Amino acid sequence: MKTRVECASLTDFKCDLLVVNAFEGAKQLGGAAAAADKALGGLISKLVREGEIDGKLGKVTLIHCQDGLKADKVAVVGLGKREKFDLEAVRTVSSSAVKKAREIKAKVVATINHGAGLGGLKVEEAAKAVVEGSVLGVYKFAGYAKEKEEPDFEVEQLVIVECDRKKVAALQKGAELGRIIAEAENHARDLVNTPSNKMTPTAFAKLAQRIAKINNLKFSSLDPKTEGMEAIWSVARGSDEPPRLVALEYSGNPKSKDKIALVGKGITFDSGGISLKPSKKMYEMKCDMAGAAAVLGVLSLLSDLKPKKNVIGIIPLTENMPSGHAVKPGDVSGSLAGFTIEIINTDAEGRMILADALTYAKKRGATQLIDIATLTGGCIVALGDVATGVIGNNQKLMDKIIAAGNLCGQRMWQLPLYDEYKESLKSTVADIKNTGETGQAQPSTGAAFLDKFVGEVPWVHLDIAGTAFLNKERGYLPEGATGVPVRTLIEWLNS
Ligand code: BES
Ligand code: ZN
Ligand code: ZN
Repeated sequence: MKTRVECASLTDFKCDLLVVNAFEGAKQLGGAAAAADKALGGLISKLVREGEIDGKLGKVTLIHCQDGLKADKVAVVGLGKREKFDLEAVRTVSSSAVKKAREIKAKVVATINHGAGLGGLKVEEAAKAVVEGSVLGVYKFAGYAKEKEEPDFEVEQLVIVECDRKKVAALQKGAELGRIIAEAENHARDLVNTPSNKMTPTAFAKLAQRIAKINNLKFSSLDPKTEGMEAIWSVARGSDEPPRLVALEYSGNPKSKDKIALVGKGITFDSGGISLKPSKKMYEMKCDMAGAAAVLGVLSLLSDLKPKKNVIGIIPLTENMPSGHAVKPGDVSGSLAGFTIEIINTDAEGRMILADALTYAKKRGATQLIDIATLTGGCIVALGDVATGVIGNNQKLMDKIIAAGNLCGQRMWQLPLYDEYKESLKSTVADIKNTGETGQAQPSTGAAFLDKFVGEVPWVHLDIAGTAFLNKERGYLPEGATGVPVRTLIEWLNS
């Protein structure tokens, strides 16, 4: 779907579907809807009076035009309650409209910039949200089916139409930014949805290399076994797929020594290892590299967005499999940091590979660490698929990331890192255990394990176990991979 902005009169714009809007319970239509209503001889306001158009968030009412408008059809989409209206509502609304366009096979869709009029949002931000919601909303994983009932239909063009020439530049800026960010998030979704027999550590590393080359990023690809990354190797040794640790580096401020490391968990399949998971839903564990996909998604954008920051993406990649070579509960592993680790549960493998990756990030000079990981089922118990768990050692940094998440509709909720969680990882045979004995407070004990390897560097851990992968679509989020938290990280890096 191509997106563009055009300076024109909405009522004179020739398209297959024209999208206008209405607030829930509003007595009066906004500018564009009122103009369309006038051209249609009062049909929209009649439907509002009769209650067919009720303005409920994301609800679309389709009107077939006879004359009066150049559009073939009009979609009136509900903005929800005015007091709840925000950029997230714009994304939801835009996604509903473009999904309706796909359903009715509209090739050219013209839309108003939702929320920039009566909604009171800034023109540029609203345009960004319109395009984000639309591009994210039409996402569909292509898959591998050879037999399809009917070929997929794609909306060809989304045009934001604005008659005020003075607003066009801001609209274009917002729309372009929205497109770049949403496409990167969709790309991350594709990587996560790709099955693990195709998205192997080797395949992921090759893709990362290609992305680094296209974007002029410094690239390294290491063999954890020969680099002293024993914690990664202890996870990888049960698998026939060779592990990898890749790093992609963007220098947006070469004079500064500051360096942000984004570290993404890249378990391309998590069977649990010898502490094998139950078979029900085990297939979903192809999503266990969602952190890695998000990091690659963000790094793929930076040479376009050009933030004045130095950013290194670090991605440890391996499968977690049971075999005669696999690590066993009770085994002790070394690590790049030198600490020894008693492995209580081989299914707590994410923290093992992150331990070495965080240590490597520090060796590469990171001054701030953000790790992104589908780390614990316990995070889903606590927050469901609604919010990402946030834990860290630096309140200021956590606040900034939580604020960025809220701005772009990716909710974040802080969980604690009390000393008791660190105590629960004391081992009698090694420097640390990889899980506590009780199975309680998993997100916090997982983070307590990582804390040992982070040390004093300001650090935020994002547990995306619940938010990375959905069982059912919701608004502009599809079933399967969501691409969380690509937008949050971009928002934060761009601020
Ligand atoms: N990859 C899982 C966590 C997960 C669960 C992600 C569900 C997405 C959906 C992780 O490696 C894991 O297995 N964690 C264990 C930790 C436990 C052994 C302390 C868990 O959640 O049970
Ligand atoms: Zn696991
Ligand atoms: Zn895992």
